[in-house]
Amino acid sequence: MATTTTEATKTSSTNGEDQKQSQNLRHQEVAHKIDFREGPALPVLDEIVADEKNHGTYDFIFVDADKDNYINYHKRLIDLVKIGGVIGYDNTLWNGSVVAPPDAPMRKYVRYYRDFVLELNKALAADPRIEICMLPVGDGITICRRIS
Ligand SMILES: C[S@@+](CC[C@H](N)C(=O)[O-])C[C@H]1O[C@@H](n2cnc3c(N)ncnc32)[C@H](O)[C@@H]1O
Repeated sequence: MATTTTEATKTSSTNGEDQKQSQNLRHQEVAHKIDFREGPALPVLDEIVADEKNHGTYDFIFVDADKDNYINYHKRLIDLVKIGGVIGYDNTLWNGSVVAPPDAPMRKYVRYYRDFVLELNKALAADPRIEICMLPVGDGITICRRIS
């Protein structure tokens, strides 16, 4: 997950590949603008949300992590993104499974996460604080612009 403000970029992640990314970021000239946080995203986000100074300060947030937590991320991120700012959620078409009939053949992990992605898609569509646009590229990306 990566979140960006005009002043800083903050990321939270868990694997080795991301550690390499962390090292690369530290060596760039923008290192002083980066607040890199590593670990399970929910507690990291809870820390960030707990500080009210962070509310409404983020221009752009991108989420590409554990699909069963996207709804929990949204509950937190909506407070962090500024009005007019954008949150992007990856994989919202989830291999096309979100438009497939429930009894369609699908791989086990696709079926497992399908209900979580459907729940997120419904929640985003019903959330009056955002306007949304689903881009049918890759595995689907939903762009949410905070409007209130
Ligand atoms: C599909 S990869 C993201 C790839 C990334 N968007 C890119 O283009 O390099 C999903 C990432 O989410 C991380 N992840 C999964 N569950 C997480 C969690 N609960 N908290 C933080 N990171 C998590 C995984 O370690 C993995 O690095």
